[in-house]
Amino acid sequence: MDLVVERDYPTLSRAAADLVTGVLMAKPDARLVVATGETPLGLYRNLADRTVRGQIDTSRLRIFQLDEYLGLTLDDSRSLYRWMRDVFLEPLAIRDYQVTRLPGDAANPGEACRAYDRAVEQAGGYDLAILGLGPNGHLGFNEPPSGDDAPTRVITLTPETVRSNARYWGSEDRVPRQALTAGMKHLLAARHVLLLVSGQGKREILARALEGPVTPDVPASFLQRAQRVTVMSDRDAMPTPPVSLMGEV
Ligand code: PGA
Repeated sequence: MDLVVERDYPTLSRAAADLVTGVLMAKPDARLVVATGETPLGLYRNLADRTVRGQIDTSRLRIFQLDEYLGLTLDDSRSLYRWMRDVFLEPLAIRDYQVTRLPGDAANPGEACRAYDRAVEQAGGYDLAILGLGPNGHLGFNEPPSGDDAPTRVITLTPETVRSNARYWGSEDRVPRQALTAGMKHLLAARHVLLLVSGQGKREILARALEGPVTPDVPASFLQRAQRVTVMSDRDAMPTPPVSLMGEV
């Protein structure tokens, strides 16, 4: 695991964009699973600029949705697909046919999750997983407890996640209580995981994820055993990095 601690959020976002650009240069048809949430927005803005300037070619990428609320249609403003479309897909000129959705509006959500896992397997797994860290240690919506072999599935959100996500939608009442999430098994098997963490509010959970016991109670702690992980954090989230974990960009 490499840990990269940057001075502040803009620097973190540029460093993350450099890493992602490197992956796309090496593999223009890479399979990416991408987080929504606030943390990766600076990264996505950097990648959008590079797309407009012709520095990266996104036309052959394949994108997988990380998570979605259960029961929302695409015209619902809370749909995470819409969020991904607005901040990532459209700014990076990625077309619909390049995207594998996690359909929150499927008639049979359990079967839709199994079909998603089959699609990931047929694609040969994820090359790059761009993930954020939930205040309860979740990855995607793999809420605690989630084991390292958890498949893509429907999950009930913890009160902590509902509280945390209320900031996106105005109030807790607006946050759906169930969601679909890409499973731990394929996320941990990604050829490269990029975990982005920013802000003081993530300080304690980041320390537990990186240095605490590996446990389903902190799903992100399984990253300690994943094959290739780069954790990029700003100093607010990691003021005193453990020397043993410091890597290089
Ligand atoms: P955030 O969300 O990037 O908005 O903090 C992270 C998460 O809850 O997974």
